[in-house]
Amino acid sequence: MPKDTSNLSPEAFEQASVPLATARSMPAGFYTSPEFFERERKEILLKNWFFVGREDELPDPGDYRAFDTVGGPAILIRSQTGELQAFANFCRHRGSILLEGKGNCKRIVCPYHAWSYLSDGTLYGCPDMEDAEGFDRVENGLVPIRMETWAGFIFLTYNDTARPLLEHLGDLPARMSSHRPDAMRCTWKIELDCACNWKLLLENAMETYHTGTVHRDSVGAQTSRTIATRGDWLCIQVLSDRSIATLQDDMPTLPRIDGLDENAQKGTYFTVIHPTCQLVFAQDCMWWLNVTPRAHDRSTLEIGGCFPEAAVGRTDFVQMAAPYYERWEIVGREDMSILEKQQRALSSVHFCPGPLSGRDDQVQALGLWVLAQLGVV
Ligand code: FES
Ligand SMILES: [Fe+2]
Repeated sequence: MPKDTSNLSPEAFEQASVPLATARSMPAGFYTSPEFFERERKEILLKNWFFVGREDELPDPGDYRAFDTVGGPAILIRSQTGELQAFANFCRHRGSILLEGKGNCKRIVCPYHAWSYLSDGTLYGCPDMEDAEGFDRVENGLVPIRMETWAGFIFLTYNDTARPLLEHLGDLPARMSSHRPDAMRCTWKIELDCACNWKLLLENAMETYHTGTVHRDSVGAQTSRTIATRGDWLCIQVLSDRSIATLQDDMPTLPRIDGLDENAQKGTYFTVIHPTCQLVFAQDCMWWLNVTPRAHDRSTLEIGGCFPEAAVGRTDFVQMAAPYYERWEIVGREDMSILEKQQRALSSVHFCPGPLSGRDDQVQALGLWVLAQLGVV
């Protein structure tokens, strides 16, 4: 008789938590159980900071972007006085979605009964509400979502008591300061639907063990070293004098960022900012793999790329940047394809956790962070 495949037992988590040399991977239910996912949603995803984009994507008053989050639909919008804010994307009358996609507007008009809101979230127009007793316009503005930024990266949280973003990020801002992320601009983004658990995407981002096989025909085999961190993030560095943000060695690359510190010059930093964001810093650019968990076996992966303002201002920038975009998309799709195979395999009634390699150290660290948040270890 096959054993219970989800096997979310204390013994399974203990086996995953012992020192790496004898540790095993997480039990299947860590990735396949809808109940476990619901627990993560409440205890991790709704309690922590999650990345939603760059400030420079919304430069002008009235610029907005609507997107889905783990806490439902949300809007980022820049007010007429230039302040960027995040709101829940629902109308205070009877709850229609207000905005879709991205664009610019002076007022947000609800597509259902035409209530309207200013770009700072205040309720502006609400026809035929004279009979509603005690109705107060001021109380019926859009519902704000807590937002904080670092170096142009925007993070939101549904947790009013979450510690400040900079405390969450620990020494990440110092480590990446010589890349001058505040002076970068987002120039490219794509979104992919992945039939896999959110943690598989992030674990994959934290090891180079798979690169020689999964990325055989693109970036090829890589080696990395683990960088010690302080705060809620993990880091590995892939050592290479040349930026690994394009595919071919003979491809002309954009110039290095001026003033990179000694360690930053040695290679590319791959990070995971717990729980769902990967930021990557190369010698000439940065990119992200940002995960929005949808269900236990479904996630959205957004890949975005940024370059220094000086590079973006070059007359040949569009042509120079094209190979970077191509590389990010090819490698992202290669990863997604193997992770979907992994998700399918985890549903085997015979699945049992496997032994870890020394190169899986950050995979183990990521899983243990999740368990610690749930109070399991
Ligand atoms: S739901 Fe928006 S005006 Fe009615
Ligand atoms: Fe990969």
